[in-house]
Amino acid sequence: MKGDYKIIDHAYDVVVVGAGGAGLRATFGMAEKGLKTACVTKVFPTRSHTVAAQGGISAALGNMGEDDWRWHMYDTVKGSDWLGDQDAIEYMCREAAPAIIELEHYGVPFSRTEDGKIYQRPFGGMTTRFGEGRAQRTCAAADRTGHAILHTLYQQALAHQAEFYIEHFATDLIMDGDTCRGVLSLDLVNGTLHRFNAHLVVLATGGYGRSYFSCTSAHTCTGDGMGMALRAGLPMQDMEFVQFHPTGIYGAGCLITEGVRGEGGYLTNSKGERFMERYAPNAKDLASRDVVSRSMTVEINEGRGVGAKQDHIHLHLEHLGPEVINERLPGIAETARIFAGVDVSKEPIPVLPTVHYNMGGIPTNYRGEVVTLKDGNPDHVVPGLMAIGEAACVSVHGANRLGSNSLLDLVVFGRAAAIRAAEIVGDIGASVKSLPDGAADKALERLDRLRYADGARSTASIRDDMQQCMQRYAAVFRTGETLQQGCDRMDEVFTSFGDVRVTDRSLIWNSDLVETLELDNLLGCAVSTIRSAVNRPESRGAHAREDCPDRDDDNWMKHTLSWVDDQGKVRLDYRPVHLYTLSDDVDVVPPKARVY
Ligand code: FUM
Repeated sequence: MKGDYKIIDHAYDVVVVGAGGAGLRATFGMAEKGLKTACVTKVFPTRSHTVAAQGGISAALGNMGEDDWRWHMYDTVKGSDWLGDQDAIEYMCREAAPAIIELEHYGVPFSRTEDGKIYQRPFGGMTTRFGEGRAQRTCAAADRTGHAILHTLYQQALAHQAEFYIEHFATDLIMDGDTCRGVLSLDLVNGTLHRFNAHLVVLATGGYGRSYFSCTSAHTCTGDGMGMALRAGLPMQDMEFVQFHPTGIYGAGCLITEGVRGEGGYLTNSKGERFMERYAPNAKDLASRDVVSRSMTVEINEGRGVGAKQDHIHLHLEHLGPEVINERLPGIAETARIFAGVDVSKEPIPVLPTVHYNMGGIPTNYRGEVVTLKDGNPDHVVPGLMAIGEAACVSVHGANRLGSNSLLDLVVFGRAAAIRAAEIVGDIGASVKSLPDGAADKALERLDRLRYADGARSTASIRDDMQQCMQRYAAVFRTGETLQQGCDRMDEVFTSFGDVRVTDRSLIWNSDLVETLELDNLLGCAVSTIRSAVNRPESRGAHAREDCPDRDDDNWMKHTLSWVDDQGKVRLDYRPVHLYTLSDDVDVVPPKARVY
């Protein structure tokens, strides 16, 4: 190794990596249960991407009309296009109402109805009575719900004496054979390295939206947990399913919440037509996101887009009036003014489908334990490792996530991980075993190699190549041919990373090095996504293959697993979808024809 490194050792029962909604809910839940808990996060906790979640968090509270968690479960299974694991979906929908009441008691400032109940708005794909009516199920704190939840959870974590390592970049898992024993992090502030030794590591690092050129995700959404898991020899699951949110601001990509359409906003094309009436006569503008994004893309492709280049769509909320806008959608009004120069009370917002969410990730069971395919067992638990939130694929969203089910996933499975961690650490009943000599050598060698990388290509130029490739070839609509072109291009991009150059050799606030470590993580996610996509010859949820327009349940109702080696070569296998539930309270929902 070229560099000298000062290493500081720590021992904890649990180390949570990431301080978004899932990471913080797990962190304080574990601390509350008496576990010695550390949270390692590359950004200050309240800057985590959960802060950007706008529209709300789903739960069948029934505050604004009848509702039932079984209807929520039905909608989620259907929304997942029958790729979601029904045991996990049952767990999430059943636990949703208590989770929201718990958040309310922790201090989340939800918006209120006239009679003081938590306010709920309609979101896409949410119905009553198994598809008959429209549910108002999304609990909101105006249009800043993620912000409200994140701040409350951070306060709870501090109140429960969880220990934070802030502005620490976790570089790699420390593995001992198949068992995870800890994680290595770089303190960005002073350049020291920290070797965390723990009974359990929980990856809560969020998604990898930044593998695309245009996304609603923060610049920090770089698939760090996924990259670490891949390098530890573990697979990703269902990476071909990438959600495009229908309403990202044209040009800027910033999210305009689905809550706008929930409050009565609507989309129009260049003829002023409310075109969603043609594509989804019942749900219209509140059809599920995959349907709305595809419909918008068809309108644009057929020459009915708006603007000089006819390449986007208009979102109207002028008719809602100042009261609704100021009370329910104040953040949107501000975002539209800053990023689109639009006064929403007078003009429509220019919008375009924009990458928003990764349904795929690190496979887990509904307790948050990482699972893999081993010796024919598709549910083999990886000792010492958990994953939650967008980094994980639990899989409650299957092929397509319903809006407002993400914040719910974070808090329900963050809490589930805390419950399971207490059981596991309680069963071990001993202090953490010391790490074997050289336990973090592999991780250190990689850090050192990238720190001193002396090739011809800048990190930014390789990242741009990757983002352009994903945007072009793994888009809303795909074909086998375009995906294959994308795979060939991504192979070149992956290989070019071997020629990367890092110019700053220091360890203190070295953003050049951090962006390079992040790019390494993103590249693994990107190749896994595009290879999984070319391999699935059907259309399901967010994976819309123009050359294979039908869903093929006989052959493809199964999860894709993808392993990526250090040359970027992808190996694929499969896990069965869990078509069983946890209790007898619900019937297994059979696949049905698509009716929106
Ligand atoms: O549109 C939104 O407010 C996004 C919500 C979500 O992705 O769940």
